[in-house]
Amino acid sequence: MPDKINRLEKKIEEALLGGGQKRIDSQHKKGKLTARERINLLLDEGSFEELGMLVQHRSVNFGLDQQRFLGDGVVTGYGTIAGRLVYVFSQDFTVLGGSLAEAHAEKIVKIMDLAMKNGAPVIGLNDSGGARIQEGVVSLGGYADIFYRNTIASGVVPQISAIMGPCAGGAVYSPALTDFIFMVENTSYMFVTGPNVVKTVTNEEVSAEDLGGASAHSSKSGVTHFAFPNEVETINGLKRLMSYIPQNCEEEPPFVPYESKDEIRPLLNDIVPDNPNQPYDIREVIEGVVDDSSFFEVKENFAGNIVVGFARLAGRSIGIVANQPAVLAGCLDVNASKKGARFVRFCDAFNIPLLVFEDVPGFLPGTDQEWNAIITNGAKLLYAFCEATVPRITVITRKAYGGAYDVMNSKHIGADMNYAWPSSEIAVMGAKGAAEIIFRKEIAEAEDQAAKHKEKEDEYAELFAHPYNAAARGYVDEVIKPDQTRAKLIRAFKMLENKVDNLPKKKHGNIPL
Ligand code: HXC
Repeated sequence: MPDKINRLEKKIEEALLGGGQKRIDSQHKKGKLTARERINLLLDEGSFEELGMLVQHRSVNFGLDQQRFLGDGVVTGYGTIAGRLVYVFSQDFTVLGGSLAEAHAEKIVKIMDLAMKNGAPVIGLNDSGGARIQEGVVSLGGYADIFYRNTIASGVVPQISAIMGPCAGGAVYSPALTDFIFMVENTSYMFVTGPNVVKTVTNEEVSAEDLGGASAHSSKSGVTHFAFPNEVETINGLKRLMSYIPQNCEEEPPFVPYESKDEIRPLLNDIVPDNPNQPYDIREVIEGVVDDSSFFEVKENFAGNIVVGFARLAGRSIGIVANQPAVLAGCLDVNASKKGARFVRFCDAFNIPLLVFEDVPGFLPGTDQEWNAIITNGAKLLYAFCEATVPRITVITRKAYGGAYDVMNSKHIGADMNYAWPSSEIAVMGAKGAAEIIFRKEIAEAEDQAAKHKEKEDEYAELFAHPYNAAARGYVDEVIKPDQTRAKLIRAFKMLENKVDNLPKKKHGNIPL
C-alpha cells in the first residue's frame, strides 16, 4: 500500500505543477497568474475540490504522445464563493496554449452537467488558443459539446466567463454564449481569428490589443461586460457580480439584511436642472436612490446613453436600466437598445426585479441608425421589457417622449408601478418639434413667425410638458417629489415581492434578433 500511495502522491505533484515550474514562471513573466492561482483567488479558502486531475489526452499525432500533461491543460472542479456553491474550470495556457481537445472538453462538460443537475453557476476562467489543432475534429466536437451545454444551460444557471489571456476561436464563442464576460486590460484578448490571419486575409495590420483587447471589447464591440486593470481586480469583480445573482432560475437573489431608517433623500431634489435641455448625470440619481455603494455598473464604457447595472435597495438585489441624459441627450440608439435588452433578459431569467429611470427624448434619428436597423434593434428592448415577468417599476425623471415612452417599461407593456417626478414631460414629442408640425400653416402665415412659433410651442408645453395627463389616466400611478423616491421604491418592491405573472404556453418567443 505505501508504494501505491507514494505513486499517487507523485502523480498529484506532477499534476499540480502542470507543465512544470518553467512553464509556471513563463506565465508569471507575462504578468499572468497560473490556472490554479486564479482558482485559489476566486474560491473560499480550502473549498476547492478538483475533479479529473489525472485525465490525459489520447492523441498520438504530431508528437502529442510525447507531450501528455496530467489534467490536459484545464483544472476543473467545484467550491464556494461566500459560502455558495459554484463549478469552475480554469484553462492552463502553459499546456499546449490551453488549447481544447477531446479530454480537455470532457472535463468541462462534466462540471457543466453537474452544475445543471445541482442548480449552481458555472464560472470559466479562459486562457486558450482555441481548438487544439493537432487533434483535428475531436477538438471541434469538444467545443460543440460545450456550446450545446452553454445554450441549454442559458437561463437555468448563471454562466460567467473571465478572459485571462489570449483567447481565439472556440475559446471566444463559448464565453459569447454565457451571461457575462470579464476581461483583463493588456493581458487578455478575444478574437475569432488573430492578427496574423487578419493580415493574410484582409491585409490589415492590427495589434492583438487593438483587434481584441479589453479596451476594444469594452468600448467598441460591447462584447465584454467588464474590464479590470489586472487579474486580481478581475476576479474580485467577478465575485462581486456573484453577490447580486441567484444560484439558478428557481431561486431568489441573495438578500443582504437591512434595517430600515429615514429613507428621505433631499439631494435628489437638486439633480434635474430647470432647463429641460440641460444634461445631468443619471448615475447621481441612481446612487442617490440605492443602498450606499451598492451600484455595480455593467458595460460602463459601451453605449453610454443607457446605464445598466445591479444594485441593492434595502438589501434587495435589483437590476437598473436608465437613460443617460449626459450622453446623446439619453436618446435610444442601436447599441443602447441591444445593451438594455440583454440586461433586462438576464434579470428576468434570474428573478431580479427591474427598476427603470426614464429621461428619453426618443430614438436617435439618422441614416446611420436606420441603416444599422434601429427598427429591429429598438424592438429588442421593447420585446425584452414586454416579456419580463419580474417586478418592474419605472421612475420618469424628465422626458418620456414618443415610442421611447412606450419602450422604457411603460405600464402599457407590463410595468407594475410607474412614478413620475414633477419635472416629467410625457408626450408624443418635444414642444418645439410638435409646434412646427401641427401649427406649420399658422406659423407660415403669421407676420412674426418666430413669435408665433414660440406662442404655439408654449401652448403645447403647457398642455403636455408635465406628468398630470398621464397621471389622470392612471398611466402614472403617482407624481412624487424626488426626495421620496427611495422610500416609495422600497415599499413598492416589498409589495411586489410575491408577484406571479406567467406568459402563455409556447415553445419560445421570436425576439427580433
Ligand atoms: C494547439 C496551440 C494552439 C492551438 C496555441 N498553441 N494555440 N496549440 N492548438 N489552437 C500553442 C502554440 O503552438 C505554442 O506552443 C503555445 O501554445 C503558445 O502559443 P503562442 O502562439 O506562442 O502564444 P501567443 O504568442 O501568446 O499567441 C497566442 C494565440 C496564438 C494568439 C492564441 O497561439 C494563436 O493564434 N493560436 C491559434 C489560434 C487558432 O487559430 N485556434 C484555432 C481556432 S479554430 P509552444 O510549444 O511553442 O509553446 C477553433 C474552432 C472552434 O477554435 C469553433 C468555433 C465556432
